[in-house]
Amino acid sequence: MTDEMLALALSNAAKAGVTNVEFLKGTIEAVPLPAATVDVVISNCVINLSTDKPAVFAETFRVLRPGGRLGVSDIVADDALTPEQRAERGDYVGCIAGALSFAEYRTGLEAAGFTGVEITPTHPVADGMHSAIVRATKPATTDTPSEDTGTTDACCGVDACCTSAEAATDPALTVTEAKSASGCGCQN
Ligand SMILES: C[S@@+](CC[C@H](N)C(=O)[O-])C[C@H]1O[C@@H](n2cnc3c(N)ncnc32)[C@H](O)[C@@H]1O
Repeated sequence: MTDEMLALALSNAAKAGVTNVEFLKGTIEAVPLPAATVDVVISNCVINLSTDKPAVFAETFRVLRPGGRLGVSDIVADDALTPEQRAERGDYVGCIAGALSFAEYRTGLEAAGFTGVEITPTHPVADGMHSAIVRATKPATTDTPSEDTGTTDACCGVDACCTSAEAATDPALTVTEAKSASGCGCQN
């Protein structure tokens, strides 16, 4: 999420000749995209690093279209491990101390509105801690809260970003076009 990382990503995309990709600068607690415009959210080993996981889950839910899916890889702790015991096993920046437990992950996703939560451990990374694949779905029939209220400031802090007009955005538009059409202030 630094300018250097974005420059490297753009350079790599150019080297690979990839033209159907856009890189946006932002954090997972405040995703610079309009509501209900994303089909699938993927991530590898980032959510455990967030210090505001409810915001991450709320943002993921907000940007997904109804029926959209979450499929991420992350570190997850056994339910028996306290936060202190997780911290004994590794640093926060080492992706260990900030890990949620299985129950915390499920509760957090469900509190944000997700259904069909599946958390599948794939391999151990420390005593009682695992790399895991986390899957969940935004219900197809849910109302997106931000569409109703139009008051979220999650898109680069621009209050006018998340209006109901975004929900009517043509899915064939590029991200830049969609943001412009919706009145989102995050144009870069
Ligand atoms: C363990 S690395 C994983 C990188 C990449 N996903 C991969 O699999 O190689 C964690 C990355 O998360 C980024 N990161 C940490 N906290 C973040 C946040 N709140 N929002 C966005 N990115 C974040 C860091 O800059 C870092 O690039």
